[in-house]
Amino acid sequence: MNKDLQNKEKYLFFDDATMLQCNLKCTYCRSKTINLNKVGIRKLEESFVKGVQIVDDNTDYAIIKLFGYGEFTLLPRFLDLIKKYHENHISKSIQLISNGTLLNEPIVKELSEISMLNMCISLDGPVPEMNSCRTKSKKLLKKVLDNISLIIEYGIPLEINSVLTVQNTATFDKLLEYLNSLDGKVISFPFPVRPFPELDNSNLFPNSIHIEKFKSNVIGNYEIYSHVLPPKEYLNRLVEFMEKGERKWNCYVAYANIGVDQDGNLLLCACGPKKTLGNIFEKSHSTFAKKRNIKPKIRWEGCDYCFNHYELLNLYFDNLIELGSLTKIPSLNYDSVRNRLNYLKSGV
Ligand SMILES: C[S@@+](CC[C@H](N)C(=O)[O-])C[C@H]1O[C@@H](n2cnc3c(N)ncnc32)[C@H](O)[C@@H]1O
Ligand code: SF4
Ligand code: SF4
Repeated sequence: MNKDLQNKEKYLFFDDATMLQCNLKCTYCRSKTINLNKVGIRKLEESFVKGVQIVDDNTDYAIIKLFGYGEFTLLPRFLDLIKKYHENHISKSIQLISNGTLLNEPIVKELSEISMLNMCISLDGPVPEMNSCRTKSKKLLKKVLDNISLIIEYGIPLEINSVLTVQNTATFDKLLEYLNSLDGKVISFPFPVRPFPELDNSNLFPNSIHIEKFKSNVIGNYEIYSHVLPPKEYLNRLVEFMEKGERKWNCYVAYANIGVDQDGNLLLCACGPKKTLGNIFEKSHSTFAKKRNIKPKIRWEGCDYCFNHYELLNLYFDNLIELGSLTKIPSLNYDSVRNRLNYLKSGV
């Protein structure tokens, strides 16, 4: 192996949070709807390219996740940026996470030609009521559903992120039924709506009746939907979290992943409150050194009420699931990713 790479700190995901802007206004989300002008777009694209270069120079990660707190596909050159990234990082996996509203067949076709790329589309349900926190437009929902079918048709491995709210928790099996009917590699990742300091979305939290229904309709029917669900341990932990209303166990995400926002801030964890360790665009290397010092088990403000798809990593780090059971998850189904997970686990 290249000596330089051996010396770099190893991570699993690089959560690239370049985009803050979005074309939707999901009621639970903290993203900003901003009209981007040409200068703004150019700045974001430059920031993305420069940020990737600096993270490459200082770390070694297995998979990049393109999401941001907004919508990456809003960048007019997003496809070129991904292709260019792929050309320069042939051995790295890519996950594009999107709301699925701006895709079409030519774009999906081009994405399917990029090896090591998988996608994650956010969808709270296949019917308007379940999906109403994301959009009230039936037309837009149909577009997302059509794009999901296209992604599957073109053979791109797919994860579906769903935020569990009052609108969809009790009837979540409807989404599973829908995904089961699509013949392809697709995994559903439900996780609960999360409070943010800057946004009160507590009116959307599912209640105990919704949670009971989720338990019987989803976990109770695991055998029927196992093809499109993550391991059962994940779902049990999800229900435990929703019932308790807070996490009572460790999270290793800040240790395993690297996260950078649109201003170049290296985040303690891209999923939590935006706590920065420093700015990667500044010349000092102390920012990455601070990241290296993050202990595997940390708790900080925001962790208590945070639960997302990364919980699967925590179950693995805590010896509660086998590495083999992660192969069904598209973003983890690469040798390089599983080897990296194994390596990181030895440091826990
Ligand atoms: C911020 S979005 C960015 C990517 C893209 N715009 C999308 O919607 O997929 C990333 C994920 O966070 C989820 N999300 C947004 N607000 C949330 C909240 N309050 N609680 C839990 N998940 C949330 C979205 O549904 C989506 O799956
Ligand atoms: S969840 Fe995604 S699509 Fe919805 S407002 Fe937030 S960033 Fe936009
Ligand atoms: S609990 Fe959430 S905010 Fe805390 S480290 Fe884990 S993923 Fe990040």
